[in-house]
Amino acid sequence: MSRGVPSPDTGGRAVPASFAPLLIQWQRHAGRSGLPWQHTRDPYRVWLSEVMLQQTQVSTVLSYYPRFLERFPDVASLANAPADEVMALWSGLGYYSRARNLHRCAQAVMNDHGGAFPATAERLQTLPGIGASTAAAIAAFCHGERISILDGNVRRVLARLLAFDGDLAQTKPQRELWSLAQALLPPAPTPDDMTAYTQGLMDLGATVCLRARPLCARCPVQSVCHAHGADQVQRYPVKTRRLQRRFESWWLLLVRASTGDGPHRFWLERRPESGIWAGLYCPPVFADEPALLAALPAPARSRVQALEPVAHSLTHRELRLHPLLLTVEAGMNGLPPGQWVSASALAEHGLPAPVRQLLLALPD
Ligand code: ADE
Repeated sequence: MSRGVPSPDTGGRAVPASFAPLLIQWQRHAGRSGLPWQHTRDPYRVWLSEVMLQQTQVSTVLSYYPRFLERFPDVASLANAPADEVMALWSGLGYYSRARNLHRCAQAVMNDHGGAFPATAERLQTLPGIGASTAAAIAAFCHGERISILDGNVRRVLARLLAFDGDLAQTKPQRELWSLAQALLPPAPTPDDMTAYTQGLMDLGATVCLRARPLCARCPVQSVCHAHGADQVQRYPVKTRRLQRRFESWWLLLVRASTGDGPHRFWLERRPESGIWAGLYCPPVFADEPALLAALPAPARSRVQALEPVAHSLTHRELRLHPLLLTVEAGMNGLPPGQWVSASALAEHGLPAPVRQLLLALPD
């Protein structure tokens, strides 16, 4: 096992000097090369892909990314779009604060930066929705900046590589790992080296150094991996805090109106600007069934039909959605706040994915 040279900002820890060249060489020969956001140094395209990929799998982003770019080919078109249209195109990707920040970021680039993304990771981080790792990815891919990404996958890779046993639920060990990540960078990289290195870190985390069943036999840096050398790969990363998901039940009032020969209309409310599904269109939500029924005019209450509940997981919540359907002939007075949206216009409205599925699968 090569031990490398201690570096002043690593607390005396040795980092393997061969890590960067091995990773770069592997990425160029065996890493991912056909993704639509690769082979460009356009900050708009790279930024868009990095934000989409923050909490979403590559396979999902592959269908959203080209659609988004077709509608918003540059930062100006995105900045000038109505917020509702941005949310509608994001619908189904989840984590909707990303879409709101994306829109705000495009506006900040236009208004405060003359239409060009800042060129350094430090300044990119001042924009909405761009954290340290996303800023590093953009600066490395677009400008060859010598800076390391450090998202969840990369933390796992580096914690194993270095047998780093600091608790990554705590800020201080996170900062230490960041310094180590910087020390592992190639010493004098060209922009192409930084692209291969950064993509290599992502590829290694996504395809080889997997959380549950790492494929060590295929790993290009197995020979310098301290966790592998000690046969303790599963011990890393160390993270004490576990995500606590709260269980919650929501009752959804689905009101559907027929309009003669035309498509149905649905009664939807735009959700508040913060909280779950912020800014998206959704049937009115209630904490329980009595509250839902109390919000309806008395004669309508007995016509409400309970549908099968649907489970939906969010980062911090396990939602159980209880849809109650009320079908009315044309319009209806006395409904809770909301507006009619035609079934044919649902695609232009940002709807949470499970709500969209519910509405499209309603019984006749
Ligand atoms: N995850 C985050 N950024 C990525 C990228 N550029 N390519 C593949 N997966 C990623």
